[in-house]
Amino acid sequence: MRISGQTGFIRCILKRAGGERAVFLLAFSLCAGGGLMQEVRADTDNDQGTERGAYLTAAGGCYGCHTDIKNGGKPYAGGRALETPFGTFYTPNITADRINGIGSWTDNDFLRALKQGISPSGHYYFPAFPYPSYTKMKDEDALAIKSYLLSLEPVAAENKPHEIAAPFSWRWLQWGWRILFFEEGPYQPPSGASEAVARGGYLVDALTHCGECHTPRNALGGLDTDRYLAGTPNGPDGERVPNITPDSASGIGDWSEGDIVTLLREGMKPDFDNVQGSMAEAIEHGLSHLTDEDLAAIAAYLKSIPAISADGS
Ligand code: HEC
Ligand code: HEC
Repeated sequence: MRISGQTGFIRCILKRAGGERAVFLLAFSLCAGGGLMQEVRADTDNDQGTERGAYLTAAGGCYGCHTDIKNGGKPYAGGRALETPFGTFYTPNITADRINGIGSWTDNDFLRALKQGISPSGHYYFPAFPYPSYTKMKDEDALAIKSYLLSLEPVAAENKPHEIAAPFSWRWLQWGWRILFFEEGPYQPPSGASEAVARGGYLVDALTHCGECHTPRNALGGLDTDRYLAGTPNGPDGERVPNITPDSASGIGDWSEGDIVTLLREGMKPDFDNVQGSMAEAIEHGLSHLTDEDLAAIAAYLKSIPAISADGS
């Protein structure tokens, strides 16, 4: 079969390119950092479209990755360093600036970037940009995000080139990664899902991209879908990421839906400890802005997925 021939070729290249180091590169760092809570507000109070875009942008967690909070960078102007053992990626400027940002992008450019991981000039993005999750987003939601971003002040911050060594920096290698691991297409709710579970699943998989951190990755940096949300000791920035399936021993099976909502809104666990690291950030800059209804939908969805024991692999 044509695909498997290509697959073998890519595996070989990746192996020769440095085996498990390649994994890291592909799997690496999702947002971490610190800083002030972002004000999510619409430009005009009664511009409901923009308000919806602001809400979805918060859900998508765009601010945390695309703002260099640590160095006082302007919102969405990029330059945030994502450290990896291979070097550093810098997020691009996604403000309305026409030269450095996305001010001159068409709707199709934006949809292709978010949902196919391909730039307006046709190059492949690295999956450090969670387009493999955003591919599941509805077009109207993606375009609402674009409208919101374009409603904000343009910032002329220049993009910094990534500081990664070859061969990890070769974008064309992404061609192989995509064949192996990228599945393009809309979100499909589990069959028989209630409305709340379907909404929660959409939020989890398409927007808030929980799996980008909570699902372990295989040897080539693809998500191990058999262990969906079952946690990993080797998360972004080397963090341990817990199992959030309903397994009662190793997961969150004995948390109530209310416990999950409280965690996502305030960062507090049932034992009154606060979550740390990249989860605290995901809450501060994104999840805490979601409505109670959406947080409850996420909780209902997490309760509905198969329980997986963390001792399983
Ligand atoms: C986990 C970190 C992370 C998150 C979350 C994230 N991005 Fe990005 N984004 C990146 C990185 C890294 C790149 C650069 C990828 C590359 O160079 O291949 C990028 C690239 C982009 C680009 C391409 C810009 C260009 O100049 O080519 C757009 C547009 C974009 N992101 C929009 C968004 C939006 C909208 C959201 C929220 C829905 C978002 N990103 C969330 C890390 C992130
Ligand atoms: C950027 C990476 C990242 C993303 C995205 C992310 N998490 Fe987390 N999550 C973590 C890390 C790391 C921890 C562990 C924090 C700690 O130990 O204090 C964690 C902890 C948790 C916990 C606490 C579990 C326990 O047993 O203590 C829950 C529940 C949780 N996350 C749910 C979610 C949900 C639901 C989403 C999506 C809406 C999500 N997370 C998105 C990284 C992430």
